[in-house]
Amino acid sequence: MNRTPGTPVLSVRGVSRNYGAVRALVDVDLDIHAHEVVAIVGDIGAGKSTLARVMSGALAPDSGTIEVDGAPVTMPSTRAARELGIAAVFQDLALAENLDVVQNLFLGQELRRAGMLDERRMERRAWEVLSQLAARVPSVRAPVRALSGGQRQAVAVARTLVGNPRVVVLDEPLASLGISQTAEVLNMVERLRESGLGVVMISHSMVDVQAVADRIVVLRLGRINGDFDAEHASYEDLIAAITGITPTGRAARPTTRPATL
Ligand SMILES: Nc1ncnc2c1ncn2[C@@H]1O[C@H](COP(=O)(O)OP(=O)(O)O)[C@@H](O)[C@H]1O
Ligand SMILES: [Mg+2]
Repeated sequence: MNRTPGTPVLSVRGVSRNYGAVRALVDVDLDIHAHEVVAIVGDIGAGKSTLARVMSGALAPDSGTIEVDGAPVTMPSTRAARELGIAAVFQDLALAENLDVVQNLFLGQELRRAGMLDERRMERRAWEVLSQLAARVPSVRAPVRALSGGQRQAVAVARTLVGNPRVVVLDEPLASLGISQTAEVLNMVERLRESGLGVVMISHSMVDVQAVADRIVVLRLGRINGDFDAEHASYEDLIAAITGITPTGRAARPTTRPATL
């Protein structure tokens, strides 16, 4: 897919974040455009989740800025980020097991009519956002505990769509999913791109990332260590950027994306 030109929807500019002595993010720059799936890959502890949290208002950076449509913003909370059009699904999904799909989708953002919960409108909207993802659930009145891993991921992503976001950040959406559920979630990511969203997908599976991403950004020890066009990135290039070791055993040089792709 062609690179989307123009102003990025979301930009991370010179962001650093420490946890005590741990430098989780060091001077990270990243742009996310509409209609684009950007995969973030990297070893365990590379800083991927920290970046996801900083991008979505869950964690404040120590330094650096976040921009939306080219203008600096402050995102003191995930709610503030959602209001700016940035929504995230974290690894724990934060679903309420005993509540049904509709209740989970509208938890904290219930639709009301004359002061009462508007169940019919919420149900209709639930079907809308689930079909936008081509997600299949047995019933929107099924409790989340009755759903498969892939269906849960779908509900968590659908919940972000209720607020009509422009960028969705998914932290390891494929972790602990089987093969067919992985395919469903990848299909869902493609649907998000088709609806014009920018998608940030964190993953450690090279195969899955190469199947769905337009760009692959590598984090290593908190720094961006490569920004690849997914179509042209070789497995060896990615592994070298992730590990810092080239196939010949030499330390890999940081890679940068050519100016025009
Ligand atoms: N809440 C925390 N307190 C202290 N250190 C943390 C915390 N969260 C993450 N870290 C550390 O920051 C680094 C980056 O972690 P993380 O962003 O979770 O990486 P990844 O998602 O790529 O595995 C790791 O060294 C991790 O141990
Ligand atoms: Mg993580």
